[in-house]
Amino acid sequence: MFPITRMRRLRASRPIRDMVRETTLSPKDLIYPVFIDATITKKREIESMPGQFRLPLSDLKDEVSELLDLNVPAVLLFGIPDRKDELGTSALDDRGIIQRSIRAIRDAVGDEIVIITDICLCEYTTHGHCGIIEDEKILNDPTLERIARMALSHAEAGADIVAPSGMMDGMVSSIRSLLDENGYQDTLIMSYAAKYASSFYSPFRDAADSSYSFGDRSSYQMDTGNSDEAIREVELDIMEGADIVMVKPAIGYLDVLYRVKSTFGMPTAAYSVSGEYSMVKAAAMNGWIDEEKIVYEMHLAIKRAGADMIITYFAKDVAGYMEEF
Ligand code: PBG
Repeated sequence: MFPITRMRRLRASRPIRDMVRETTLSPKDLIYPVFIDATITKKREIESMPGQFRLPLSDLKDEVSELLDLNVPAVLLFGIPDRKDELGTSALDDRGIIQRSIRAIRDAVGDEIVIITDICLCEYTTHGHCGIIEDEKILNDPTLERIARMALSHAEAGADIVAPSGMMDGMVSSIRSLLDENGYQDTLIMSYAAKYASSFYSPFRDAADSSYSFGDRSSYQMDTGNSDEAIREVELDIMEGADIVMVKPAIGYLDVLYRVKSTFGMPTAAYSVSGEYSMVKAAAMNGWIDEEKIVYEMHLAIKRAGADMIITYFAKDVAGYMEEF
């Protein structure tokens, strides 16, 4: 008790504060999302996400080298295909944009970088939903076979980790069985296990050209009010064979992240999504906040809540100013 105990002693100087800091952040914790657009030849800035770009395939090599120089160990790939249809057929194409991107990265840097691919149909379907549709309903079971084939074609191209993000029931087990049947038992699955139907994704839809033509995603993504349900979602994905589980978004869902990590002790990822990025950028561009400090604080908070790894558009920034904090 005071005056014997004085908590402020532990805060007296920067070196002492550093000694007692419980959570640390390293570039190795970060995963950078990359958008590869089959329809462009020069990189194009994403309007709603200043500082983020869609890249042509030819820019990938430099992008990956830059990340490796910053000690960022992993990328999460999203593709914008040159053709879309009702079924998202181009997602399964062996010569599709992601399949070619994976090969290009492997050619450039071998196994140095971890390649994670997003497994979802929404960038490849004309209606922009994450599954096969019939009468404006998103069908679960017919979608499973498609996403499993998509995952297999990414594994064949050389992906280390496939990351199903469509919130279909049974997506992890469908992918696991098809991968195993084809000799890809060592390809990891990072499941977007607790993914909420969040308004924080809207800038992403501009980034990935994946806006939906009707309805919304609330019949498959989770309701914001729920966290017991997140535990059930994550538990099912673990039983189906997920190696890494994800909570998404990050900042608004730190309670969920904390529960997931403390309940299961699984390798746990958090996705700091497009809206989190754009809000910080917009405020910083107006001079209302100190961008570096806010970004560092956000990412440290995400780790403190339980994330082992953070998927973030700020990966290069955080890795770049790591020394300062
Ligand atoms: C694809 C997918 C989305 C995001 C990641 N994978 C969009 C969505 O579910 O609508 C969002 C990422 C972000 O907002 O940064 N299903």
